[in-house]
Amino acid sequence: MTKLSVICGKASEDLGKKLARKVKANLVRADVRIFPDGESKITLDGEISKKKSIVIQSTYPPVDTNLIQILSMISKAKETSSEVVTVIPYMGYARQDREFLPGEIVTMKVLAKLFKGAGASEIIAVDIHSLIGLKYFTIKSKNISAIPDLVKFFKKLSLKNPLIVSPDQGGKGRAKEFAKKMGIEYIALEKNRDRKTGKVKIKTKKVDVVGRDLILVDDMISTGGSIINATKFLKKEKCNKIFVACTHALLMNNAEKKIKKSGVTKIVSTNTIPGKTSIVDVSDTIAKAIV
Ligand code: R5P
Repeated sequence: MTKLSVICGKASEDLGKKLARKVKANLVRADVRIFPDGESKITLDGEISKKKSIVIQSTYPPVDTNLIQILSMISKAKETSSEVVTVIPYMGYARQDREFLPGEIVTMKVLAKLFKGAGASEIIAVDIHSLIGLKYFTIKSKNISAIPDLVKFFKKLSLKNPLIVSPDQGGKGRAKEFAKKMGIEYIALEKNRDRKTGKVKIKTKKVDVVGRDLILVDDMISTGGSIINATKFLKKEKCNKIFVACTHALLMNNAEKKIKKSGVTKIVSTNTIPGKTSIVDVSDTIAKAIV
């Protein structure tokens, strides 16, 4: 009889397989068909443990499709397993964690109810945009950091007098932790985002980065706006190479090309979102958080 199963959604197939191997679980695959009207038809293939299941799927675009799929998988797992640990490596909607403008819906509050209602016993996220999002969950919830995995990668590069840079004040803590683990210094730029148009601007006056290699650290890249603005500013200040380290690379609307064009040498992200830049594996870190 299966003691532990990993039910792996299509959006996190590779990461799910790696996780199943690491926690020595039976892998349950999801066969997904998308009907012409956009509905998902999911069939699970494999034995589900009566004791404990781990359901894993990131909710990157198509966000709502991936979301309904993971909710459905949790619900199916709960029919058999008494415990359903839910891993959402990239948590979509995490930036919608407070009412910035009057009338805005805090979608993270809605998600907290949906995941509990579907049957999740515990939620694990990797570098969720802000911990505020997890406060709405009334079941056990945990955020794990991919910084040690990213740092391991960057420690292998030979960089010129490197400096960690956060593109905004909100990411200062992340930059500080990254810098501490690298054993180097950090700075945090000041960024302004227009809440209506989404446009970002750097407010910082001057920084001393002349001739230094920089690692821009962020939790996620969506349109690339934050990274491109920071890169343009830092290039004007005559830095040497700019690398980007982020956990979740969504890279919407040709963002990778635009970021490279602005002067970034390399984008390094993790496999919470599969793609060309996701060269850092976080399956080990997730496995350690589960067992
Ligand atoms: C913002 O607070 C986040 O940490 C990211 O900097 C931001 O969400 C990235 O979005 P974009 O790539 O569209 O600027």
